[in-house]
Amino acid sequence: MTDRHRGPEPGSLAGIVLACCAVGAVAVGVALYGPPLSLSGASWEPGAPGASGTPTSANASADRPAPASPSAPALARADGPDYATEEYGRRLVAHTAELLGPDHPDPARRMIGSRLNCGSCHLGTGTEPGTLNLLQTFEHYPRFSGRAGTMTDIEDRINECMQRSMNGKPLPMDSPEMMAIAAYLRGLGTQYQAMGTSRRKAEEPPPFKAPPRAARVDNGRTVFESRCAICHGKDGLGLLATGDPSRGYLFPPLWGPDSFNNGAGMHRVLTAARFIKARMPLGEPTLSDDEAFDVAAFINDRPRPQMANLEQDYPDPAAKPVDNPYGPFADDFPLEQHRLGPFQPIEEHYKARKKTK
Ligand code: HEC
Ligand code: HEC
Repeated sequence: MTDRHRGPEPGSLAGIVLACCAVGAVAVGVALYGPPLSLSGASWEPGAPGASGTPTSANASADRPAPASPSAPALARADGPDYATEEYGRRLVAHTAELLGPDHPDPARRMIGSRLNCGSCHLGTGTEPGTLNLLQTFEHYPRFSGRAGTMTDIEDRINECMQRSMNGKPLPMDSPEMMAIAAYLRGLGTQYQAMGTSRRKAEEPPPFKAPPRAARVDNGRTVFESRCAICHGKDGLGLLATGDPSRGYLFPPLWGPDSFNNGAGMHRVLTAARFIKARMPLGEPTLSDDEAFDVAAFINDRPRPQMANLEQDYPDPAAKPVDNPYGPFADDFPLEQHRLGPFQPIEEHYKARKKTK
């Protein structure tokens, strides 16, 4: 267990469960699946394989309020000019599920369909150097996006994670929330400039290198059970921070209705394996390349919310990453190989194509 976890209040459910983890007695509940989500362009299909949960305890989330309809009004603008502050941006990144989640009492603020936080993947609210940090993000925009096929601003990129990683809706460009997150990212850039060289260095194992074979989902299940289930739950559905789903997760779900959708970057096997090798198990990232590769494939093989119109991504399909898990492709490799590898032949195909152009 690391001290990076948000400190649970003594006596809270999280405290009890953390104590359980410490003695190795895993007692993680299985979430019931809530009503299907119908956020713009994204849905959760309870009929998907593996979607039958056993009813249980703390984690049950059967009585969720209905998610926001696509016609929900834009976020209300708050009054004060100080509202869109860096500090508000930091809170949005750290506590996204609570501030914009599907349980928010104000329907207009239910912007995300998952119950993840931005910080579930961008660790330390994006301040930890290394994999998926957001320290230098601001200065990289505007930039060309192959996925969108056009130049994109930082706000567009934030909305990509809103619609994919968070399985939600885009934040209105002029909402205090969008301005606050952008201001926070600008502030991180300033912070990075001021950091000493030693603090800029990531403490991570050597970067993931894809094994020259297809990932093995079955072996990934074994890795999951021995190295991940203790925190993320035997069912991978995570562990709520308290009994109340509106407070979000202490250990976020890796699949299921509260997780990222199939259009997310984390749903690509190489992206997920890179993150997992660098960061997971949290506080003890000791997986080999083979283990990280297989467990990433296992996670991405499990059911999760589906995003609509994915075939419209990458107007130039040759710009697709080799591990993009959905077509159309500008090559003849089967979809299965794009999902699980081996990736080296696909990479070589594109390298050769570039040379002959
Ligand atoms: C499920 C994991 C996950 C969550 C949750 C998530 N992201 Fe991301 N984010 C990624 C990944 C992976 C990338 C890397 C790009 C890719 O491969 O798609 C990324 C990239 C980004 C980038 C671009 C970084 C750069 O340097 O260009 C920004 C900005 C960003 N995310 C913001 C957010 C915000 C804001 C939220 C919450 C609203 C969020 N993300 C939630 C996984 C996540
Ligand atoms: C000690 C507890 C712990 C263990 C063990 C652990 N994780 Fe995590 N994991 C976390 C926490 C906590 C977060 C969210 C980080 C945050 O909110 O600061 C996380 C986040 C993630 C995420 C991104 C968010 C999401 O829900 O998709 C992935 C993917 C992930 N873990 C995969 C794994 C895999 C694979 C393993 C096993 C190899 C693993 N984790 C083992 C605690 C753990």
